[in-house]
Amino acid sequence: MPGPTVLITGAAKRIGRGIALRLFKEGYSVAIHYGRSLEAARETAAACGGAPLFQANLESVPEIVRMFSEVQSRLGRLDALVNNAARFTRFDPMEITERDWDFIHSVNLKAVFFCCQQGARLMRLSGGGRIVNISSLGGIRPWADHVHYCASKAGVIMLTRALAKALAPEITVNSVAPGVIPFDDIDPSGLAMIQATPARRGGTPDEIAGAVLYFLQAGNFITGQVLAVDGGLSQR
Ligand SMILES: NC(=O)c1ccc[n+]([C@@H]2O[C@H](COP(=O)([O-])OP(=O)(O)OC[C@H]3O[C@@H](n4cnc5c(N)ncnc54)[C@H](OP(=O)(O)O)[C@@H]3O)[C@@H](O)[C@H]2O)c1
Repeated sequence: MPGPTVLITGAAKRIGRGIALRLFKEGYSVAIHYGRSLEAARETAAACGGAPLFQANLESVPEIVRMFSEVQSRLGRLDALVNNAARFTRFDPMEITERDWDFIHSVNLKAVFFCCQQGARLMRLSGGGRIVNISSLGGIRPWADHVHYCASKAGVIMLTRALAKALAPEITVNSVAPGVIPFDDIDPSGLAMIQATPARRGGTPDEIAGAVLYFLQAGNFITGQVLAVDGGLSQR
């Protein structure tokens, strides 16, 4: 029997890739969404047993609707959705323009909502499902150089909680809030945050994936929750 079908957004690289690899290892039928990273998405899909690929620019609600329609026609069902794709920029808040604001919110918040909506419509056709939204420590703690990013991720946390009520009891909606998960492009402020992390290290994609897996496997008594996977940084 194939395992539950799960779509992971932004799964070509980095954390999304780590989530896809872990869920595949745990027996899920993984579907990979990507935006621009076709080559990396192909590699991730190959590492996930030839997983199907879905492309969409998540800035566009019509593209999101088209993608979920393709998921329905190609896969026949959707049991779970992991909203991982996001943008991250640093800006002096006094210099942020409307365009900068929309650049972040179109993907980080608006797309997460409409992916939840479209995913939930499919999940309801097969009796229910699981949604996990990747938020951020920046949605819990304020960062002065990332005001718009923090606002978008706080929005993800609140939409997670409100949708948990709206979509219960068939669908659970939870969030994983990563602390610093370092890659090659980590900057001095990221390194400083790692130094301030009680665990004395950055996290790994597989540690985020483990928290995602927990919410996917939990019963419907766990919904509307936010799990910070941050080495204790949110407690400082
Ligand atoms: N890394 C960290 O330390 C950290 C900390 C806290 C929270 N997080 C959160 O964890 C998640 C993953 O983080 P990450 O660092 O691995 O993310 P990332 O590499 O910055 O972005 C993940 C993917 O999002 C996709 N994406 C962005 N804009 C898109 C658009 N308009 N349309 C379609 N796809 C789009 C990109 O896909 P393509 O490459 O295919 O275009 C990208 O590969 C994000 O939600 C992030 O906010 C990360």
